[in-house]
Amino acid sequence: MDSPAQAAQPSAAASGSKLAIRTQALNLWYDTFQALFDVDLDVKQGIITSLIGPSGCGKSTFLRSVNRINERLGYVRTTGRVDVLGHDIYAPSVELVQVRKHVGMVFQRPNPLPLSVRENILFGLRVHADGEQRLDRERQGQIVQEALEQVLLWDTVKDQLGEPALRLSLEQQQKLCIARLLPLKPSVLLMDEPCSALDPQATSAVEELIWELRGRYTILIVTHNMAQARRASDECIFMLMGKVIEHGATDEVFVTPEQQETANYIEGRYG
Ligand SMILES: Nc1ncnc2c1ncn2[C@@H]1O[C@H](COP(=O)(O)OP(=O)(O)OP(=O)(O)O)[C@@H](O)[C@H]1O
Ligand SMILES: [Mg+2]
Repeated sequence: MDSPAQAAQPSAAASGSKLAIRTQALNLWYDTFQALFDVDLDVKQGIITSLIGPSGCGKSTFLRSVNRINERLGYVRTTGRVDVLGHDIYAPSVELVQVRKHVGMVFQRPNPLPLSVRENILFGLRVHADGEQRLDRERQGQIVQEALEQVLLWDTVKDQLGEPALRLSLEQQQKLCIARLLPLKPSVLLMDEPCSALDPQATSAVEELIWELRGRYTILIVTHNMAQARRASDECIFMLMGKVIEHGATDEVFVTPEQQETANYIEGRYG
């Protein structure tokens, strides 16, 4: 059987945009240090893809290059191409706010704003809203409810919408951080070890949520937790020292990896 990465190419070319993310010859340097080497990846739309590999192999760097967050650092240089839904996000005409709207990101530690639960959800819309797009209170209420329902948090926090988000548990805060991306109708959700600050029970609750979002969004998730990658992803990418070593259906990557380095990593022989 073709690896999914290979299989995706012809169908993507035929249909125009069955791919959520395509990178071609993506290289990235922090000053003189090269962190990504010729990364060619096709990430399919609507599925969950996990990104695994030892510490320092470039997982976060790769993720951050998909919403151009690396550019905050003045000393980062990127070459090659990153397309999101068929659009080159590094093209000079592209507005960064548009990229961030389509490609949301969740970090290791939940980072809600020091505002109420409700204001956290509405914040992105306020930042992105055009002048004429003022939402009345009823519509705002609907948006807040829909976002919280999608992250399975509505029933728990519906009576605490005016409370500071920072008073929620870590699990609830992380769900809220996912929820606040949703009113902007993103296509891609990038998650960088979203469960690493959570206890096992909270981890399974957030994993369950991620699975729930499958199909509605394309999810690219970094994890050090092999069990999580295996349980919670359709496809898996293994990286080593800034390069993609293997990309395929998760079951195949775990059960019959093509590369020896992948097998070594999965069997826990390094980092
Ligand atoms: N802001 C930065 N400035 C300079 N070098 C960096 C920066 N961020 C990452 N690096 C370097 O780039 C390489 C890749 O780092 P990255 O954080 O992407 O790895 P990672 O796979 O996410 O690791 P981890 O599993 O520990 O999170 C590492 O050698 C790291 O030291
Ligand atoms: Mg990282």
